[in-house]
Amino acid sequence: MALTNQRWVLNHRPTAAVGPGDLTLQSTEVPDLREGELLVRNIYLSLDPTNRLWMSDREQYLPPVGVGDLMRGGTIGVVEQSRSPRFAPGDLVIPGNSGWQLYTVSHESSTGRVRTTQGVPLSAYLSVLGATGLTAYFGLLDICQPKPGETLVVSAAAGAVGSVVGQIAKIKGARVVGIAGGEAKCRWLVDDLGFDAAIDYKNEDVGEALDRHCPDGIDMNFENVGGPIMDAVFSRLRRNGRMALCGLITGYNSDGPLAGPSDFGRILMQRLTVRGFIVIDYMARAREAMADLGQWVADGKLRWKDHIVDGLENAPAALDRLFTGNHDGKLMVAISDLPSQS
Ligand SMILES: NC(=O)c1ccc[n+]([C@@H]2O[C@H](COP(=O)([O-])OP(=O)(O)OC[C@H]3O[C@@H](n4cnc5c(N)ncnc54)[C@H](OP(=O)(O)O)[C@@H]3O)[C@@H](O)[C@H]2O)c1
Repeated sequence: MALTNQRWVLNHRPTAAVGPGDLTLQSTEVPDLREGELLVRNIYLSLDPTNRLWMSDREQYLPPVGVGDLMRGGTIGVVEQSRSPRFAPGDLVIPGNSGWQLYTVSHESSTGRVRTTQGVPLSAYLSVLGATGLTAYFGLLDICQPKPGETLVVSAAAGAVGSVVGQIAKIKGARVVGIAGGEAKCRWLVDDLGFDAAIDYKNEDVGEALDRHCPDGIDMNFENVGGPIMDAVFSRLRRNGRMALCGLITGYNSDGPLAGPSDFGRILMQRLTVRGFIVIDYMARAREAMADLGQWVADGKLRWKDHIVDGLENAPAALDRLFTGNHDGKLMVAISDLPSQS
């Protein structure tokens, strides 16, 4: 008997935060596999700020999701059927061309095998040991290039990417100041992750706090947020400073342009390097990052939190947590049960 898939499709393009009716949950029949294909039952779906960008038709780094099409999204799952000699039922994989759905038919050529380590939960391979970790690793080490004693400021510092960035910078000997929303998140950064200071942008004047914590200016900015927070950091970058532009989440819920720092001339006057990057461009170097990230996790030098919301039906509502900060760590949705050995 044919299996039934559950999948979210984009109903129309939201103009603000994703709301009821922007996506529709459909039931469809899972098609028969062709040679080289696998049927993957998705276990976790990664929810990312970029999901909201993909719903918009603004110019971006991948084609927007088409109206009526499956909502794109990263998943991790287990092979249930295989017509590939390279994968067998029970294998844990990251399917290619996945989305907000229970089952993905993935071609062997675009499927990544997940090799788990005992004691590390499967969800970690969508977060600290997945694209989140790679984003933090390459954005920080390739673009900011931290040196011992330099000062890094990271925004959305208690989030999935930001929390990993700050810890890697500490491993490399930098001074790290994080900006996050709320006392509890700021306390976690300093008390548990070893940041040198944290600024609660919801309750403090960010500019004043930066002057206090970075009296000699800022060498590196790992920027996740944009808007007034980015401006406050950018205007304190000092000579030869570096900015890794990772994200501009303050602008994702509107269709307007994603604004840059107001003091553009500072790039000239202070000889700054400002570089945007997209993690998919680094996939060919993933092994290099995974060796370090895996070791740091094993050594207890790199900590993380996964925030798992239950049920594929809750994915659209859960996405908004990324924009309100109402989540604690890497946000994902549990779609189906873990295989018994995981
Ligand atoms: N370039 C790439 O390849 C790449 C890859 C992955 C992610 N990213 C970007 O990295 C950034 C972080 O992504 P993530 O997946 O790690 O998400 P996340 O940081 O776990 O969650 C997003 C966080 O952004 C903060 N935020 C949202 N709206 C804000 C606002 N108006 N002002 C200040 N802070 C706000 C909130 O932090 P608080 O709770 O502290 O308020 C929220 O928790 C995003 O901009 C994302 O697009 C880029």
